[in-house]
Order: sequence, then structure tokens, then C-alpha cells
Amino acid sequence: MSAQKQIRRTTVPQISARKSGDPIVSLTSYHAHTAAIVDKYADFILVGDSLGMVMHGMESTVGVPLDLMIMHGKAVVRGTQKALIVVDMPFGTYEESPNMAFRNAAKIMKETSCGAVKIEGGARMAETIKFLTERGIPVMAHIGLTPQSSHVMGGFKTQGREEESWAAHEADAKAVTEAGAFAIVLEGMVEPLAARITKQVNIPTIGIGASAECDGQILVLEDMLGLNPWVPKFVKVYGQLGPMIEQAVSDYAEDVKTRAFPTEDQVYR
Ligand code: KIV
Repeated sequence: MSAQKQIRRTTVPQISARKSGDPIVSLTSYHAHTAAIVDKYADFILVGDSLGMVMHGMESTVGVPLDLMIMHGKAVVRGTQKALIVVDMPFGTYEESPNMAFRNAAKIMKETSCGAVKIEGGARMAETIKFLTERGIPVMAHIGLTPQSSHVMGGFKTQGREEESWAAHEADAKAVTEAGAFAIVLEGMVEPLAARITKQVNIPTIGIGASAECDGQILVLEDMLGLNPWVPKFVKVYGQLGPMIEQAVSDYAEDVKTRAFPTEDQVYR
């Protein structure tokens, strides 16, 4: 028997148990190499369908195909050992019926070996969340600003600006909790509403543009690394990778043009 200590991945019940406990750290990741770095610090990693916009230059997440999510999901699972990996179900792969959702969620889980899927929508997705969780598929819910519905919402708009709308968001949170979701992402929601929902539900809330009162936070990795020239107001930029990459590429181009690269040390004889 191997004497090597096996690293165990964070499980869904371990995330649920963090309600009102130590804040849950999470980030998105789409590649094996960045995921390996994030894995050292994050409780869960989301392979978000934001990859359509961030990596593939799409205008919204609506066009992201299932196979692309599976390809990036596989890379992130391969690059990590410790964090729970959650893969987004893309638009059009789960809304039509619980059966359709099960078929596609099972495909994602079987082909990527991820630990859970995430779906957007509140009360309207409760039946599907119940159907999936009862059949062995852990579901992270996502309410508030749901980018896959941006065409209906009229863009990426902060939710809950009118207090009259709060009851509907609170009902969404209650419905997905009762349906069996193990955590809920609260995206783009006014702070007092996110704080209220966090107090009302008994599963962890994960904020993005929401509230420091949430049980955890998530950001898009490329946003917080400074890879995107524009980021939403709620993003704190922790690194300046965009300018660093530009400098490195321009130094390389200069070296090539002046024949300063490769040097004698960098060629085979
Ligand atoms: O797709 C994504 O990256 C997400 C996060 C913003 C929560 O859903």
C-alpha cells in the first residue's frame, strides 16, 4: 500500500457546512495552469460560462456550447487536487425540462469528473434543482443578475434597486434552498438585499457584486488579475497581468527584430 498521503477534494457537504462559518473563498478558472494556482487557496473553483466572454471574445454567455464547458471543465479538474470543481451548465442545456437538465448535467459530471454543476434561475428552476439533487447531482443555484437572461433583463443590470422587487428575489432564494441547492450565487444585487437573503437561507450564499455579509465570495479570475481593460465596479483588481504581458510581448518582439534572441545560450549545437 502506498504510504503517500492522499489529498482529498473539498466535498459538497463541506461547503454547505460553512454556512455562517469561515468565509468561503472561490474564483473562476478555465485552464489547468491557473486552476493549479487557485487550487492552493480556493474552497471551490467555478468553471464559469463567463469563459465565453473572457476567453472566447463572445458578447454574452448565451452562445457558449456544452462541449466547450466540458473541455474547460476537464482541464480544471486535471490541474487541481483540493478544491471542489463546479461547472456551469450553459444556456439552452437545462431550462427546457428536468429530464433534459439531468441528461446534460450527467454528461458534464461523467466527462469532467467535476463535483457539482451550477444553473441560473430562482423559483422557475426549483423543480429542476430538486430533480437533479434527488438523482445524485449536486446543484449550486445562481440568482439576482443572471447573465444568461441578459436579453430579457435588458443588459447586465444590478438587481433589487427598487425595494418592491426584493420579495421576488427572496422567494427565489427560498425556492432554490428548499429544492435542495447546496449553495447560491448572489450576483449583481444591492447590498442590503444580499445581506437579508444571507440571513434568511440555511445554505451558504456566494456573493459577486453583492455583500460582504455573504458566506463567501467569487470573482472572475481574469478580472481580478487585471487582464481585462474594463472591469465592473465591484471587482477589486489584485494584479496587473495585462500590462505585464504587454511589456513581455513587446520586449520579445524587440529582441526578435534586433536579433537579440536567441542568444548563443539558447541555441542547440
Ligand atoms: O460564469 C461565471 O463566471 C459565473 C460567476 C460570475 C459567478 O457565473
